[in-house]
Amino acid sequence: MKKDILFQPFTLKSLHLRNRIVMAPMTRSFSPNGIPTEEVATYYSKRAAAQVGLILSEGTVINRPSSSNDPNIPHFYGEESLKGWQKVIQGVHQAGGQMGPQIWHMGVMYNHHSGWVPPVPFEGPSGLNKPDFTNGVTMTEKDIYDTIAAFGQAAADAKRLGFDCVELHGAHGYLIDQFFWEGTNLRTDEFGGKTVVERSKFAIEVIKEVRRRVGEDFTIILRLSQWKPQDYTFKLTKTPQEMEAWLTPLADAGVDIFHCSQRRFWDSEFDGSDLNFAGWAKKLTGKATITVGSIGLSGEFLAAFKGESSQPQSIEQLLERMDRGEFDLAAVGRSLLADPNWVEKIRDERTAELKGFTKEALGALL
Ligand SMILES: Cc1cc2nc3c(=O)[nH]c(=O)nc-3n(C[C@H](O)[C@H](O)[C@H](O)COP(=O)(O)O)c2cc1C
Repeated sequence: MKKDILFQPFTLKSLHLRNRIVMAPMTRSFSPNGIPTEEVATYYSKRAAAQVGLILSEGTVINRPSSSNDPNIPHFYGEESLKGWQKVIQGVHQAGGQMGPQIWHMGVMYNHHSGWVPPVPFEGPSGLNKPDFTNGVTMTEKDIYDTIAAFGQAAADAKRLGFDCVELHGAHGYLIDQFFWEGTNLRTDEFGGKTVVERSKFAIEVIKEVRRRVGEDFTIILRLSQWKPQDYTFKLTKTPQEMEAWLTPLADAGVDIFHCSQRRFWDSEFDGSDLNFAGWAKKLTGKATITVGSIGLSGEFLAAFKGESSQPQSIEQLLERMDRGEFDLAAVGRSLLADPNWVEKIRDERTAELKGFTKEALGALL
């Protein structure tokens, strides 16, 4: 059966997955004062019990005073928050699943709609959230090295608490990506530069520090996107050669799996080939990759934030591409947010029971 490819096990270092389906990281803002609650633990363990191969947590922020713009986003530091996360991973393991936290620093952000602001200004490579929009301060060299250490500490804590891997959020216009992007990184020191390769020094130092803290055998995933929420059509690298120059040093620094964020997984990355981002990342680096973006759904996720519903859609093309070896794993966001049992329904071909996605699903931890 074609779908069997999705249900092949996958092993890489500390990961021993029962299938190729990953729950995509999704911010839920249900952790008051940054502490994951019992409901958060139940939300994840339900997905583990219902056969998700690997769960990636919602973005969870590192120990920097302005790493978050929302008081209900979970912290990955502090005794109470880490206790909350320990319950999460224990629940997931008891239910037979595997999980990694998505470690995050938002960088320079818009203020939260509630009016809440962190105790100190947002920080980023040049104080910019996008070209011509300053809403924070430029990080000093000390800020940068303290932040690198905080990423390392979070990863070490993830391993200590028993998580199976760690994902670094290097995508979607947040801190690591603000260093990659020339629109938000105007630095003239060693953390800036004319090329994306030069602007990758921050990411490389974070990866190296995380690797140093977790050891060789713990799986490190790096999430990247070419697009920015500040500019959906943007591409950091415009040719395979540029992409190779960007990704190779990241791989060499210690990435095991590239998680290649697209809004629609079937979009080809460059003209002249139908390979998607994950396909190119695998081909260029030889590393394992995760694809993502509207798998099994008719509409994409940024429209979902504006209230657009999506209907279930065939996963045939995903299976064909996976069967060709284009990528190793497939991350599913909204379908798993709305329905903990999505994987079992796909496995058992209970197509009529697939729910799709409506914005109401965002309002609760189902
Ligand atoms: C409610 C919501 C919250 C999200 N939060 C995050 C996040 O914290 N980190 C991240 O890397 N991506 C985040 N994303 C993007 C998803 O991980 C995923 O890439 C996107 O939803 C596309 O997958 P889908 O089409 O299957 O939903 C979020 C998406 C949604 C819908």
